[in-house]
Amino acid sequence: MKLWRLIGTVAIAAGCGNGSAPASAADRALAEFAGAYPEAAAPTGVVRTFELTAAPTELPLIDGKQLAVWAYNGQVPGPTLRVRLGETIRVRFTNKLPQDTTIHWHGVRLPNAMDGVPYITQQPVRPGETFVYEFTPKDAGTFWFHPHVRASEQVERGLYGVLVVEDAKPAPYSRELVWVLDDWLLDQTGQIAPDFNTRHDLAMDGRWGTAITINGKTNTLLRVQPGERIRLRLLNSANGRVFKPDFGELDAKIIAVDGLYLRTPIPARDFELAPGNRLDIDLAFDRSTSAPLEIWDRFLAQRPNKLASVAVDGPLVATPAFTSPAAARVPAWEDAVNAPVAHDFRLNAQQGGPFGIAWTIDGVAMDMSHHHAMAPSVALERGRFAHLHFTNESPRIHPIHTHGMFFRLLARNGVRVDEPFFRDTVLIHPREEIDVGVVPTDAGTWMMHCHILEHAEAGMMTTISVVEPTP
Ligand code: C2O
Ligand code: CU
Repeated sequence: MKLWRLIGTVAIAAGCGNGSAPASAADRALAEFAGAYPEAAAPTGVVRTFELTAAPTELPLIDGKQLAVWAYNGQVPGPTLRVRLGETIRVRFTNKLPQDTTIHWHGVRLPNAMDGVPYITQQPVRPGETFVYEFTPKDAGTFWFHPHVRASEQVERGLYGVLVVEDAKPAPYSRELVWVLDDWLLDQTGQIAPDFNTRHDLAMDGRWGTAITINGKTNTLLRVQPGERIRLRLLNSANGRVFKPDFGELDAKIIAVDGLYLRTPIPARDFELAPGNRLDIDLAFDRSTSAPLEIWDRFLAQRPNKLASVAVDGPLVATPAFTSPAAARVPAWEDAVNAPVAHDFRLNAQQGGPFGIAWTIDGVAMDMSHHHAMAPSVALERGRFAHLHFTNESPRIHPIHTHGMFFRLLARNGVRVDEPFFRDTVLIHPREEIDVGVVPTDAGTWMMHCHILEHAEAGMMTTISVVEPTP
């Protein structure tokens, strides 16, 4: 039965001609991909309009002291924008910053012209200007938005927010929480250290701050009632810091990564939440407990950070019962790694460039500060499977992010991994090689870059062009 279906789909995918040729690994991967996620969402016709303004302001953040920040609508994090799957989002964005900016919708599959990349998908939004972003998300899930101009400065100053695309029928969690993890590097005066892209940040893993916050505040205490079942949407918006959340004794399961549901829930353990990554966690509290419950970050084993405390008290409430929404069709792609490699991206650094150190992909550092024609690294065909390889030739970490498409990690250092989910960002460790598989669904010129924003600023960016398939 399974074999029959496979062969049937391959015949269609392979299209014209040579029906007797054996299916290639790429054909098999594409056949297995069928139904993993949709070409498009069925539009409901509803348009949700939001006004978003980026401007300097002051807010009581971190431990409550006034902090000079740049903020969307006067908030850090910016407002959580919510739409339901099938709805169209329209954002009238106004730039009241002293610099150019744009908004990139991280993780959202959308038309290329709405992707918010200066000089590639749009002109920068100049100070005082307005730009309207409008698109209909194809996937329900947790996404985010941030500038794509001088991001290492603008994101660090506080410009980021979460975009939630709710399922057509959301699972009836007791409640939902959005937690944005960030860290802040402050100077002597307690303000955001104004030296961006320092030589140290560039030589290392970007700018790591000292004050770690959830939604802008330290000392987070989560109060829950026994019986509650909570959907926690977690985003790492830091410039460079990787978190590895440890939920300790809590009953915590990952149901979505980078927006998309898993094949099946997995324990929330050992996930490297790199800059840009999101996790949706199913948190269940079945009884009261007086034991201290804490959530820690253990990415640096020697220097763990306490992220939050959890207090469970009050009367027992009924636990909503439903089957986990984490039941997506995620292909196993067992032999996808045998498909020919469409491109091997080599990640490295060299001396020179505007910051003294340039971060390169295939020996080239990209300069986003003005328009210049740069050939895409690779052209992929829309709707076809592609196998990409990355070689990190450097001793630093690089969370690589693709715009406009999800991918699945196939192998690390040649050893197959079976993650039951897609991603849009994956952490590549020092000197590591990885293989990923991708089926791009949208044509256009899409950025691919390191999400350590200092590395990106110093050149570690390129483009992938997605073209219509040859018949
Ligand atoms: Cu959050 Cu170009 O990325
Ligand atoms: Cu990097």
